[in-house]
Amino acid sequence: MKTKAAVVHEVGKPIEIEELDLDGPRDGEVLIRYTFAGLCHSDVHIQHGDLLARLPMVLGHEGAGVIEEVGPGVTRVAAGDNVVCSFIPNCGICRYCATGRQSICDMGATILEGNLPGPRFPITGPSGDYGAMCMLGTFSQYGVIHQNSVVKVDDDLPLDKAVLVGCGVPTGWGSAVNTANVQPGDTVAVYGVGGIGINAVQGARYAGAKNVVAIDPLENKREKAMELGATHAFATAEEAQDAIVNMTRGQGADSAILTVGLMDSEVVSAGFNAIGKGGTVVLTGLNKIELPTIQLSGSILTLFRKSVKGSLFGDCNPTTDIPKILGLYQAGDLKLDELITRTYTLEQVNEGYDDLLAGKNIRGVMVHEH
Ligand SMILES: NC(=O)c1ccc[n+]([C@@H]2O[C@H](COP(=O)([O-])OP(=O)(O)OC[C@H]3O[C@@H](n4cnc5c(N)ncnc54)[C@H](O)[C@@H]3O)[C@@H](O)[C@H]2O)c1
Ligand SMILES: [Zn+2]
Ligand SMILES: [Zn+2]
Repeated sequence: MKTKAAVVHEVGKPIEIEELDLDGPRDGEVLIRYTFAGLCHSDVHIQHGDLLARLPMVLGHEGAGVIEEVGPGVTRVAAGDNVVCSFIPNCGICRYCATGRQSICDMGATILEGNLPGPRFPITGPSGDYGAMCMLGTFSQYGVIHQNSVVKVDDDLPLDKAVLVGCGVPTGWGSAVNTANVQPGDTVAVYGVGGIGINAVQGARYAGAKNVVAIDPLENKREKAMELGATHAFATAEEAQDAIVNMTRGQGADSAILTVGLMDSEVVSAGFNAIGKGGTVVLTGLNKIELPTIQLSGSILTLFRKSVKGSLFGDCNPTTDIPKILGLYQAGDLKLDELITRTYTLEQVNEGYDDLLAGKNIRGVMVHEH
């Protein structure tokens, strides 16, 4: 069948809309009709060449839709199911899945190659085989993806909101709840309030943090953070540092969660200085793979028993955490509707990313037409 999709052919060039050919689902695969896709900063990292991906690549890794057809051996979902995609698949049996660490499942090895196991490229076109971002490619009307990349959700959940639970919400929420292990009474600093950071704010607040300090140079971001659980908001790390010292009587924050769009050593150092003894810095934002974004005193790390941790998909287990987080939404304890600033069509994808880079959006969402 044919599908219209947003493709990166060359680093630094605009994203192109192309009509491509899609093969039917084989063993363990499903045909999904994508209905909504979130515009996450990670797709820009592909376009800008920060994350080196195999090109051409169909972008989009935050997605939701309806299963249209299943291939042989598919047991997790059936035709007609509403699903949210997970940007890391989970096989269930590798060493990491089997020990409750699905976000580092071995099957995730090809998320930047964009192929399914085989290796197999169900999408083809004028430039040969097309990879799909995170083995999904949600900026496409249809996709053929592995059953291990989808999680069935309740029929009555609005997919235009649930789509955010494919990346931004679990990544941010889990960076606070899982990776930073925020405890009641904690002081937490969140650097960068985009689609990821706003959910670190929500997660920290839900876990019982006393002080949730949001740092972002943009006023619209700080306002949204205050609306959704931050207790303080500052434009710069310097202002936040002084306030954190005061509010903790010199002890420092328990955790600093770094969710800026482009990670650098300055923000890592700011987070490291904001935490006190026993504190944790969580690196969730990304930058060029080869760039040394961590330049810190190892002696301070040791003497103050600080930790610096990476967080992927918020250390969440998609099969259990996607339904759990959606349950919190249904209960009113987690906001999704308030995170969506604007919607876009597939053709407006470049405009959507211009808006993201200009800091206009908490999250932009693509609405697919079929
Ligand atoms: N680790 C993971 O699993 C994972 C998953 C998804 C996204 N990411 C990464 O997380 C990062 C954030 O993604 P997003 O979609 O929320 O991006 P975004 O562009 O929507 O938001 C980034 C925010 O950071 C702010 N910012 C930039 N520099 C800052 C600074 N020095 N101090 C404070 N704030 C600053 C911006 O104003 C913006 O509001 C990206 O690097 C993305 O690739 C990681
Ligand atoms: Zn993402
Ligand atoms: Zn696995």
